[in-house]
Amino acid sequence: MEKQTYITCSPEETEALGAAIALMAEPYKVIAMFGGLGSGKTAMTRGIAAALGCVDPVSSPTYTIVNEYRGRRRVCHFDMYRIEDQEGLWEIGWEDYLESGALCVVEWSENVLSALPRETLRVSFETVDDETRRITVEDL
Ligand SMILES: Nc1ncnc2c1ncn2[C@@H]1O[C@H](COP(=O)(O)OP(=O)(O)OP(=O)(O)O)[C@@H](O)[C@H]1O
Ligand SMILES: [Mg+2]
Repeated sequence: MEKQTYITCSPEETEALGAAIALMAEPYKVIAMFGGLGSGKTAMTRGIAAALGCVDPVSSPTYTIVNEYRGRRRVCHFDMYRIEDQEGLWEIGWEDYLESGALCVVEWSENVLSALPRETLRVSFETVDDETRRITVEDL
């Protein structure tokens, strides 16, 4: 897809953008999120999961590395903050998730760049101020 840039001014707006992205996500295996602490990655994941019909509340997979949600398409939500190398990815079964047909939503994609497949949509978050985020969406 062509590169697009958005500005959101609340977590709800970031969720709504996530819902719009979810509707374009069919050809993709991974939505790879880039951006620092508190930039809105989990907020956007809420919108993505809701748009795919997942009803369970989305919470950050900080300690579990991955949370899974049942919807029209399965959503697997990863936090790679603590993943440091290929071995860490192997331990969580990353390749199996990629082949499962689920939409893999990945926070801290910075840490797993070389493991992202061709079918990845890149979403980059920049914190402009307390309430404002600049969010760029493009192919990997
Ligand atoms: N426009 C906005 N979009 C998203 N979140 C916003 C926005 N404005 C303020 N916020 C606040 O920023 C925080 C975003 O938190 P969130 O957990 O989504 O970040 P994150 O990128 O997942 O961080 P982490 O790397 O720690 O997991 C929330 O406290 C939210 O209320
Ligand atoms: Mg998060």
